[in-house]
Amino acid sequence: MRTIPFGKPLIGVEEQRAVLEVLQGPILVHGPRAKQFEADFRAFTSAPQALAVASCTAGLHLAWFDMGLVQGDEVIVPAQTHSATAHAVEFTGATPVFVDCDPRTGNIDPEAVPEALTSRTRGICVVHYLGLPADMEKLNAIAEKNDLFLLEDCALSIGATYKGVHTGLLGDAGAFSFYPVKHMTTAEGGMFITKHAELGARIDKKRAFGVDRVVGERIVPGVYDVNMLGYNYRMNEIEAALGVEQLAKIPFFLERRRNNFVALSSALEELEEIRVLETGDQDNKKSSHYCLSVILAPPLRDKRFDIVAGLKEKGVGTSVYYPRPVPHMTYYKEKYGHGSDSFANAAQISYCSIALPVGPHLTSEDMEYIQQSLKQTLYEVMS
Ligand SMILES: Cc1ncc(COP(=O)(O)O)c(C=O)c1O
Repeated sequence: MRTIPFGKPLIGVEEQRAVLEVLQGPILVHGPRAKQFEADFRAFTSAPQALAVASCTAGLHLAWFDMGLVQGDEVIVPAQTHSATAHAVEFTGATPVFVDCDPRTGNIDPEAVPEALTSRTRGICVVHYLGLPADMEKLNAIAEKNDLFLLEDCALSIGATYKGVHTGLLGDAGAFSFYPVKHMTTAEGGMFITKHAELGARIDKKRAFGVDRVVGERIVPGVYDVNMLGYNYRMNEIEAALGVEQLAKIPFFLERRRNNFVALSSALEELEEIRVLETGDQDNKKSSHYCLSVILAPPLRDKRFDIVAGLKEKGVGTSVYYPRPVPHMTYYKEKYGHGSDSFANAAQISYCSIALPVGPHLTSEDMEYIQQSLKQTLYEVMS
């Protein structure tokens, strides 16, 4: 039997060496590694501005914090996402207004956005769900027409492009995640990118207490001023050292993911009992293939956890993206009173899907094993 974890960080000797070098030196924060990581990220994405931050959540929060959102303001967010997308709005006191997704892809449905707009709407946050770029042309048109800030939650979309433009540069700004099961990792960490120079300059300050001069820029050591409010959302040198090495490997990681996704989705196409969520490459959209999510046909829905258990018995790890639409999470449900039958498309994905691994830790033989294990398990639960 094989053991196939859903996600596994691929940390090699290069990362180990780089982290050790940091630990052997005197600079743990405000050092050359974070600068290097930012430069490499700019080169990889063609972003004019890239700022290493403590997490994707921190990057998203900084964007809304910088806008000065206040209680009563509203931001459109997808119902089908990680709670972080909505939390980043909540932190400011503003209200996340949820919009359902396209049932085929899981991405926010742009046709449903206009009816969620009010005179208090200040922005839209899109998520490139499972690595497939959202419908940015339509969303940009809505944002421009209504003078809204368009933020991209790129937690799952490094390497994903629309018409050759990297996600994060399709709207006003984007934030990436380097949490361990993501496409690449810095343990915890994120990157904020934007094409707007002034926004980048402000975020640079606001991620570090709002100080006017960071260490290294100070004329007299220890002497600085604070000219705006800011958080402590920096990335440290250990994380950045990991990031530099991981980013160098990202082309290989992404190619492996693509090959694994394509192999698995074509092997599962014939099955009537499931529907593969359409998150692979399409038209002008290049996906980053975070995972492959299958929606179970109605007769199998009550057996979802039996199928998960059957796969686990065969050594195949799974997950669910995401376990509930965010407005169904207790915090949001209690605060805003969303009903259990709201956001039907997001609910179908949350309550009827299983996410299968396609990460670079897996070989083509592993993909063959996963599809055989799934077919065998479906047969077992149906008989
Ligand atoms: C869509 C999405 N946004 C944000 C996050 C949060 O990322 P981080 O842990 O880097 O803050 C996640 C984490 O899984 C995510 O999936």
